[in-house]
Amino acid sequence: MERVQKVISNLGYASRREAEKLILDGKVLINNQKANLGDKVKPSDIIKINGIVLDKTKSNDKVYYLLNKPRGVVSTTSDELGRKTVVSLIETDKRIYPVGRLDYDTTGAILLTNDGDLTNLLIHPSREVEKVYLAKIKGIITGSDIFKLKNGVVVDNKKTSKARVKLKSYDKKNNTSLVELVIHEGRNHQVKKMFEAIGYDVIKLTRIRFAFLDVKTLKSGEYRMLTPKEVKKLYNLGSN
Ligand code: URA
Repeated sequence: MERVQKVISNLGYASRREAEKLILDGKVLINNQKANLGDKVKPSDIIKINGIVLDKTKSNDKVYYLLNKPRGVVSTTSDELGRKTVVSLIETDKRIYPVGRLDYDTTGAILLTNDGDLTNLLIHPSREVEKVYLAKIKGIITGSDIFKLKNGVVVDNKKTSKARVKLKSYDKKNNTSLVELVIHEGRNHQVKKMFEAIGYDVIKLTRIRFAFLDVKTLKSGEYRMLTPKEVKKLYNLGSN
């Protein structure tokens, strides 16, 4: 016997919290009776969500989360300094890990999964997916420096690939600029090092999009599960 919200989330239908909400909203039936939070079910019980029978044979042990990473969290599964990890922000009993990294002080879109095949597809250097960053930098960036970023700058003895770079705004009073960068590579501290290479310090960095996934609907620290359609789309991107 297992709690109904656990059965729903283990099948990858929704996160535990989303499953609880579905139950509270009266969208879940057990043997055609409205389910209550904490109801226990046995394998022969029929669970319906929004009128559709949950197929328990299609147990999907793969899970995919999109997190809006807050500042002050490491993108690893554990941290030797005991700092908070992105994994600890997600309520799951699966052994998930982040796809790639964001720095401790970088915010924004990060995927977490236990699907190693998809991870390898997405972070393979020959097929790195598009990532969009918004960087607040110290100084007013010049047109020629934007041109340099677009064409590639030398980072760790190797030139970066071509990038799309746009000056979004600048603030003369505070002497800062907001620059959007679209890159495909995922080298360590890449964006900060690209700016460093041309003499600017990054004050704030946010990844506003990973592939086609943005975090506009997620507050800092919030996450959601990907839909099966989104997972399929990611697989297709990776295999191009
Ligand atoms: N580039 C960086 O410098 N830091 C990040 O977190 C991501 C990209």
